[in-house]
Amino acid sequence: MAQDIHQDRILILDFGSQYTQLIARRVREIGVYCEIHPHDLDEAAFYSFAPKGVILSGGPESVTSDLAAPDYLFGAGLPVLGICYGLQTMANQLGGRVESSDHQEFGYARVELMERTDLTLDIADEVTGGVSYLDVWMSHGDKVVEAPPGFTVFARSENSPIAGMQDERRRLYGLQFHPEVNHTLQGESLLRRFIIEICGCDGLWTPANIVEDIIEGVRAQVGDDQVILGLSGGVDSSVVAALLSRAIGDQLTCVFVDNGLLRRNEREQVVGMLGEGSDNAFHLNIRVVDASDTFLTRLAGMTDPEAKRRVIGNTFIEVFDEESASIENAKYLAQGTIYPDVIESAGNKGKAHVIKSHHNVGGLPEDMALDLIEPLRELFKDEVRKIGLELGLSHEIVYRHPFPGPGLGVRILGEVTRESADLLRLADDIFIEELRRADLYDRVSQAFAVFLPVNSVGVVGDARRYAPVVSLRAVETIDFMTARWAHLPYDLLERVSGRIINEIEGISRVVYDISSKPPATIEWE
Ligand code: XMP
Repeated sequence: MAQDIHQDRILILDFGSQYTQLIARRVREIGVYCEIHPHDLDEAAFYSFAPKGVILSGGPESVTSDLAAPDYLFGAGLPVLGICYGLQTMANQLGGRVESSDHQEFGYARVELMERTDLTLDIADEVTGGVSYLDVWMSHGDKVVEAPPGFTVFARSENSPIAGMQDERRRLYGLQFHPEVNHTLQGESLLRRFIIEICGCDGLWTPANIVEDIIEGVRAQVGDDQVILGLSGGVDSSVVAALLSRAIGDQLTCVFVDNGLLRRNEREQVVGMLGEGSDNAFHLNIRVVDASDTFLTRLAGMTDPEAKRRVIGNTFIEVFDEESASIENAKYLAQGTIYPDVIESAGNKGKAHVIKSHHNVGGLPEDMALDLIEPLRELFKDEVRKIGLELGLSHEIVYRHPFPGPGLGVRILGEVTRESADLLRLADDIFIEELRRADLYDRVSQAFAVFLPVNSVGVVGDARRYAPVVSLRAVETIDFMTARWAHLPYDLLERVSGRIINEIEGISRVVYDISSKPPATIEWE
């Protein structure tokens, strides 16, 4: 029997910091399973989760608000690490004093370690005259000015007299700075000490173990039944396909819907990489449904972006549903839901939330009589990529830029026609090919071309030609919530523009989008 990789687990209580997911990713990188829960997690859920240690996240609030760690927590006998707001609420709740400060401390800071503790031991960036220092990242307004009884202060910075405190006996620790952020050079070492040494966790959460664990879980769940998977060729659905192929072999049928809005050669690539004839180990049974006529006919005359999204989403479900109905004895539908989706939908429960009507390929039609399998439900995107590589998927597929469910439908402004989709596919392909050639594909987070249905003039030979415009878009982002336009080299842009205009009859002009998000979104519609 394989080891239980969930046995040692860390609980992260979330006070709303933008860095909470980053804390979780760091814990996972250290090799330990963790989950994020709201800061007011109830006691029964806490004991049923049975963590070996707890991390309190930072947060935007001031301790004068009523956002506090649950009362039972500090008496539970478990190690607790408070980060930023987590430190402040710990201090406040245990009898220390927190003040709001006139001075916001944001950015790099140098922290002096006043004494060795079991959290820091010999961790330091610099030792001068017998004194150890850390280079850290701070981001806070309030500060702790008096540690609670039983605590010793072991770190201070110019603006934070209490940048680190601990009660070794009760194993309670607080850091004013952010160890989860890369700018804190020893952040990982500090987190590792807390998780491995102080909480006593084993590093069982590794890509190979995760793969084994998921495969066992899927086999136990599925038995001899048949599973359907909507395969889009994106990272998540490809990794699900690869996992399921290892777990249940030919009990899996993949459905790939060609909606006429895919990138150039996408269908051939996906089938080539994962399908029966491929030279890798997967040999998946992929049913390709060419529904491009249905999609494009329904989109004719439509210009409203949200209406286009709805039509594409509903048509996908209809086509997928129809194809699935012909797969005999199917009992399960596999989906590429990942952990951030789970956190987001839990966090948004009951809240009105107006976002684009994002259409996830493989979205479950409500009345479909299939049970769900979500093998990636516990994983962050970087973990999905790691296990993709572990399973033998190519770097190209695992590090592919995201592609929206409605595909080129939201990159052709206004009405979508087959002609515009064909032109855009060619332009997009040239852009991506040149990016790869310049070794820049992996350096940008997402890059693509957009079709602008405005006629602009060009002189070709002696004739004036009026034809549509293509905009290139490339962004750098960590989380896709904010993004900076990529500062691509001029000579690359020149080459791409030259090739598009010369090789594609029907495009008169190429422009480069220099809008950042916010306020502009990454996609144009
Ligand atoms: P925006 O345009 O909102 O995009 O800045 C953020 C990320 O989401 C992707 N995106 C979509 N994905 N269905 C999807 O599955 C959609 O309708 C959709 N709209 C945007 C976008 O490509 C980017 O990665």
